[in-house]
Amino acid sequence: MAKTFVMVKPDGVRRGLVGEVIRRLEQKGLKLKAMKLIQVTGELAARHYAEHQSKPFYPELIAFITSGPSVPMVFEGREAVVVARTIMGATDPVKALPGTVRGDFGIEITENIVHGSDSPESAEREISLYFAPNEIV
Ligand code: RTP
Ligand code: MG
Repeated sequence: MAKTFVMVKPDGVRRGLVGEVIRRLEQKGLKLKAMKLIQVTGELAARHYAEHQSKPFYPELIAFITSGPSVPMVFEGREAVVVARTIMGATDPVKALPGTVRGDFGIEITENIVHGSDSPESAEREISLYFAPNEIV
């Protein structure tokens, strides 16, 4: 069964949106397989966002993602990667449609509440960055 990696980012935790994000993913039919509350370190953030290292927004992204606790999670289900990203909405909350997490709760591009893997390969890489095999049920 397909797995994806989802993380409620520090703004989502600060604003009390952890339950809302989980509720929407569970309601859709994805199954929660792993979850924790952690402070992402600079080192972990750099590994997670390595693909964006040369982008102009990279320093802001790293500062933001390490600015407070986050809630990384693993969800499982049919086409889990696509399903989770559809529920999250477009990267820029201004463009995200109403009915999506970013469309309903966000307006800033950096502080966009939630992260979701963009492919099954990214999901596998990101799950292994945040979870040991015995942390996934
Ligand atoms: P994510 O990785 O967080 O699920 O988001 P995504 O795939 O929709 O977007 P991605 O292109 O991977 O960008 C990662 C995160 O970087 C921030 N960002 N800022 N200022 C900007 O132009 C900009 N572009 C991206 C966002 O927080 C985005 O989620
Ligand atoms: Mg991405």
